[in-house]
Formats: sequence, structure tokens, C-alpha cells
Amino acid sequence: MTDVLAAFEAAKGFMPADEGLALYEAARGAARELRLPVLEIGSYCGRSTILLADAARQAGTVAVTVDHHRGSEEQQPGWEYHDTDLVDEHTGRMDTLPHFRRALYDAGLEEHVVAIVGRSPQVAALWGRPFALVFVDGGHTDEHAGADYEGWAPHVAEGGLLAVHDVFPDPADGGQAPYRIYRRALESGVFAEEPGTGSLRLLRRVTGGAVR
Ligand SMILES: C[S@@+](CC[C@H](N)C(=O)[O-])C[C@H]1O[C@@H](n2cnc3c(N)ncnc32)[C@H](O)[C@@H]1O
Repeated sequence: MTDVLAAFEAAKGFMPADEGLALYEAARGAARELRLPVLEIGSYCGRSTILLADAARQAGTVAVTVDHHRGSEEQQPGWEYHDTDLVDEHTGRMDTLPHFRRALYDAGLEEHVVAIVGRSPQVAALWGRPFALVFVDGGHTDEHAGADYEGWAPHVAEGGLLAVHDVFPDPADGGQAPYRIYRRALESGVFAEEPGTGSLRLLRRVTGGAVR
């Protein structure tokens, strides 16, 4: 775990250590219990992926990741979270995929990850298998977070977990789209809240009913 934590700390990204460790414990527990893979929507340069991959490795499953690797709105040139090192000279566009692959290589976890490069709703429309844990950390607009919820929450196995990052009940602390999908999950009656850490919220699927 020491090497994995060092690789996590070295990777570019947005996951604080305390939230990352909570995600790791949740993913490892759910994957061990249900013997199913875990899913990440929004990998960026692989920081949180490293933890999910190690959790999957320990549970004998895999981590599936979905990201178009072109960055979210707030990561584009001129926006608050833009990083000029992530621009591909050939296309002039953001490309986090090489950084993501390098981070997993450095962590020694490449073989525990199935990385899908694509838009979350397009991949969700093709998907037909359950997950022990679905971690939502993709686009933070209502359009994208809402589509992630609608596309992927139905694939959380009964007894599995929906994890949502950047949930801020107070608008002064951050954008509201992740908070709105977290509320939607709770109000659906399909998910029940478990203890979270910081802006990471964990919701357990308690019924097999339709996700709304
Ligand atoms: C906040 S970052 C993820 C941070 C990462 N989990 C970490 O620990 O550092 C959001 C990522 O979601 C991806 N993304 C945004 N909207 C997406 C969509 N509709 N489909 C696929 N990926 C998307 C972006 O490319 C970006 O890499």
C-alpha cells in the first residue's frame, strides 16, 4: 500500500488523500463482498483510479474507467482548473490519457484496469453488467452529472455502492450538480446514505427497484 499511496500522491488530480482512502476502503469492501468490478466515471490523470485499481486487485476483480480524456469544462484553456502541461501539441486539445497510463504504470496497476475512452452516456448505453461500486467524478454540470447518474446508477448491484465526489450542500463551497444527483439518489428510495468523508458521499443500493 505504501507504493500505491506514493503513486497516488505523485499523480495529478483532484482527490484529497482522506477522501481517496475512504473511496478505497468502500471499493475494496464492496468488491470483496459482491465479487464484482468497480467503475469510475472521470479519471483525468489517474489519481483516484490508482486507489480503485488497488482495491479491485485486492478483491480479485478489476476497475473499469470511463473518460474521454479531453477534460471537463473547467479544465479547458482559460478556465480555473486548466493545466497547460496536459495540452497535446498535435491537436491543441487537452489529452490526459498518456498521463493516466503513465500513472497506472508507475503504480504497477495497469493489469487491474480496463480503460474505456469515450463519452459517459455513449458507453452507458452499451453497458449491461452490474458493479460493486460506481464512482461518479465526471463532468460537473447538471447535463453531465445527470447523465452519469441516469446512465450508471442502474448498474450498481443491490448491496453495492454509489459514490459521488464533490458533493457540496452549500453553494458557497462548490458547484451543485453533484449535490443534486446525490439528493436524487436518496429521494429515489433505492439508495440509503452511508458515512461519507469530506465531499465524498457513499450511498448503498438497498432495493433492486427502478432508479429514478
Ligand atoms: C474532475 S476530473 C476527474 C478527477 C479524478 N477522478 C481524480 O481523482 O483526479 C473529471 C474528468 O471527467 C472527464 N469527463 C467529463 N465529462 C465527461 C463525459 N461526459 N464523458 C466522459 N468523461 C468525462 C474529464 O475528461 C475529466 O478527466
